[in-house]
Amino acid sequence: TRTHDEEDLPHATKKTMADHLRKYESLFTLTPQRMRIIAEAFKETLELGLTKPGQVVPMIPTFVFGWPSGKETGDFLALDLGGTNLRVCLVTLQGSGQFEITQSKYRLSEEQKNGDGQKLFDFCAECLKTFVETNIGSDDEGPIKDGHHLPLGFTFSYPCSQERIDHGELIRWTKGINVANTEGHDVAAMFATSLAKYQLPIKLTALINDTTGTLIASHYVNPRTKIAVIFGTGCNAAYMEHIKDIEKIKHLGIDPKAEMAINCEWGAFDSFEHEHLPRTKYDTIVDESSNKPGEQAFEKLISGRYLGEILRLVICELIDEGVLFLGQNTYKLENPYCFDTAFLSLMESDPTDELLMIIGIFTHFFALETTLAERQFFRALAKLIGRRAARLSACGIAAIVGKMGYLDEGCSVGADGSLYNKYPGFADRVHEGLFDIFGEKGRNIITHHAEDGSGVGSAIIAAMTKIRKDAGLY
Ligand code: GLC
Repeated sequence: TRTHDEEDLPHATKKTMADHLRKYESLFTLTPQRMRIIAEAFKETLELGLTKPGQVVPMIPTFVFGWPSGKETGDFLALDLGGTNLRVCLVTLQGSGQFEITQSKYRLSEEQKNGDGQKLFDFCAECLKTFVETNIGSDDEGPIKDGHHLPLGFTFSYPCSQERIDHGELIRWTKGINVANTEGHDVAAMFATSLAKYQLPIKLTALINDTTGTLIASHYVNPRTKIAVIFGTGCNAAYMEHIKDIEKIKHLGIDPKAEMAINCEWGAFDSFEHEHLPRTKYDTIVDESSNKPGEQAFEKLISGRYLGEILRLVICELIDEGVLFLGQNTYKLENPYCFDTAFLSLMESDPTDELLMIIGIFTHFFALETTLAERQFFRALAKLIGRRAARLSACGIAAIVGKMGYLDEGCSVGADGSLYNKYPGFADRVHEGLFDIFGEKGRNIITHHAEDGSGVGSAIIAAMTKIRKDAGLY
């Protein structure tokens, strides 16, 4: 039943969209109180992960011992297998926090992301070969001298359980990757097989996660860094833990006074049981139609791989209800994952009154006409989804901060990934979330754009490993 006022108003649509928005506001908004409850449960989960192996949040010991001194030097190769690209870097560490880097990127095809494991590593070796041939050469002036193997840090950004630094058994693929014959295998050994096949004068020195690399690289340039978080296709964090508090590796007899970086794999928080996180029906659909239902529950609410899809599902619901795009052909928008998370960034940053960028997205990519009221609605929706992601991330950071007691002295959080770097206001929203959880003291925890963890971080870790090996410590 419409009121007389609405009937007379040419802006009736606007009113309708605003009504719809209220519903989504209540679905996607996290109160400070709820955030504190999540952070507390998160902290308990992190602690549990340190006690015994095989926990949902695996809290993986990385065998990266302590912080870099900043004096690490030498030439190192770094290979970065993330989710979208493959990157090869030559990093020259010059000591005193300085470095130089040369790099090339190679795109991974859909076939490679859904093919066979050994083939994927063969492709990595092939790219390394091309890179070495074009960038390094083999004269005696370069870093590769006769009989000398160039040390390589391999950033493999998936959960791997490690027994030593140059080993890692893939627990599971994440971020939608679906490569056969790899889960449960030692990916370092598989990669070494590919290196041998291409007869490369390269030795895998360290297998690392992107978060661990980010932690070490950020600390190398900013020693206040205590935590690293990646907000990209996936979402995960690493921090430095006291060996004495890593119950599950007590049997290794490592000096209890030493420290080791932990790759939390926090994207798995609340997987399977789904008892802590405020999931909407759109999140459930994302989860159930993914290639790994039940898994990576936290990541699926936060990371760049999923935010666009969540928004698309809301729009599709309103199409089905006859609220949006009546009389227009919406088939292009009905394609899963067609709505890129970059569109949310663009929608939020549109500076024009008419929201011209949003017009562009909908006409260009989906052949759909939008009204101003609809565009304002889409932008508000993007804001809700982006803000929820940032505030949930704050809960994860708060859990580590609380666990390690960093609140009073404060700390820096090295952050990287497309969401953090490109999504307008993401960092501010994380900070606002930390304030909501901790009050005034939350301002002591500050995120900053991290150094390149998968390149520079990987090289520093390879250097740290070499120093330890030369000292007979592994
Ligand atoms: C996923 C991976 C994790 C990685 C993160 C960011 O969560 O499981 O290993 O660190 O994405 O790339």
